[in-house]
Amino acid sequence: MDFHFKGKSLKGELRVPSDKSVSHRSVIIGSISDGEVFVENFLRSDDCLRTVSAFRSLGVEIEEEGSNLRILGKGKHSLKEPFDVIDLGNSGTSIRLISGVLAGQSFYSVLTGDKYLRRRPMDRIAIPLRMMGATVLGREGGKYPPLTIVGAGKLKGIAYRTPKASAQVKSAVLLAGLYSDGPVSVTEPAKSRDHTERMLKAFGVDVEVEGLTVKLGKNRDPKGDINITVPADISSAAFFMVGAAITPGSEVLLKDVILNPTRTGILSVMERMGAKISVENAREESGEPVGDLLVSYSPDLVSTEISGEEIPTLIDEIPVIALLATQAEGETVIRDAAELRVKESDRIKSTVENLRRIGADVEELPDGMVIRGKTDLLGGKVSSYGDHRIAMTFVIASLITESPVVIDDVECISTSYPGFLKDFRSLTK
Ligand code: S3P
Repeated sequence: MDFHFKGKSLKGELRVPSDKSVSHRSVIIGSISDGEVFVENFLRSDDCLRTVSAFRSLGVEIEEEGSNLRILGKGKHSLKEPFDVIDLGNSGTSIRLISGVLAGQSFYSVLTGDKYLRRRPMDRIAIPLRMMGATVLGREGGKYPPLTIVGAGKLKGIAYRTPKASAQVKSAVLLAGLYSDGPVSVTEPAKSRDHTERMLKAFGVDVEVEGLTVKLGKNRDPKGDINITVPADISSAAFFMVGAAITPGSEVLLKDVILNPTRTGILSVMERMGAKISVENAREESGEPVGDLLVSYSPDLVSTEISGEEIPTLIDEIPVIALLATQAEGETVIRDAAELRVKESDRIKSTVENLRRIGADVEELPDGMVIRGKTDLLGGKVSSYGDHRIAMTFVIASLITESPVVIDDVECISTSYPGFLKDFRSLTK
């Protein structure tokens, strides 16, 4: 598909779709809770709907009313053995978090996904879940999906140190920990997103956080009978934040965006780079900080360094931050982000190759990249590599390229943001 919007700007107000991480967790924890859970503004994207169908196949009743869900939780021991293989499509969050829940069941289940998901590493969750007593099998010695899980019913306690900051691994262990009465803790090398901890607490589970360690306390039965309102996803807002900052004449107001400090790395980076961005109407909703973001064209962007503990706070935004860096004066260095190589695509390779194809000056590093700006982008043929965030990054690039950006596959965008092209067109004036 061809995109060419040079000369146009982004203008107007938008509520981007709801947060993907919070939407997944509302279904997962709601399904094992003991009561009715009403989820308002659930994200109806491919990934999150996979989580819904997975729990339906585990016997949970979930009603859809527009973009709201009603989950009829019957307690953590109410799940039933699925009649078929559970297909989680492209969704890494679904397969890894659901594995944690299945480790605590006393039945057999098989989890698979699309050709991209079947190449993503699952040993990171299989290792701690086996330590807790579950049987987790997979291709190549248990590393890749399809995964077979035979739960242990009751699991052993664990004091797990994750080798890398990963909310998916932390969450899999905490969810499995609900099926143990031994001590359960997870310690990370840097803080990853904490939506699981926040939501478990909202469901009445005892969760203690001390620095980089999360511990489960005595009460491990999610209660239910609550309402959850899902805020807008900062990872989706990121495309319009960057689009507005690099495109002359732009000003966008992005409403109800989740501003959890484990997710706002892109805000700090854009501020450091000199972007015109402000937070308005800061408030809290369902245990998560939320606000509106006003972003406008920022002609004097400068380079920055992004590394270490900041990486997990903006991990999904790095492709679009790299695009931003092409419009900043100086050398932007991104390091300590080797995790990008095992996302929906190898996002270091897919970002660097595509940026080069449209005329940017970018060097690949084993764990990141160096972007030299400011460059006038030319346009050209790029590949999304089946990765939603790569496709959206290069649609945004087409606001400033001399010639069209031709993207091979944009269907993958529905993984997280089904209405993206429509919203993009509605803001493009
Ligand atoms: C997610 C955690 C992150 C992130 C992913 C969503 C989550 O992955 O990249 O898009 O909802 O827990 P890792 O846990 O692999 O860092």
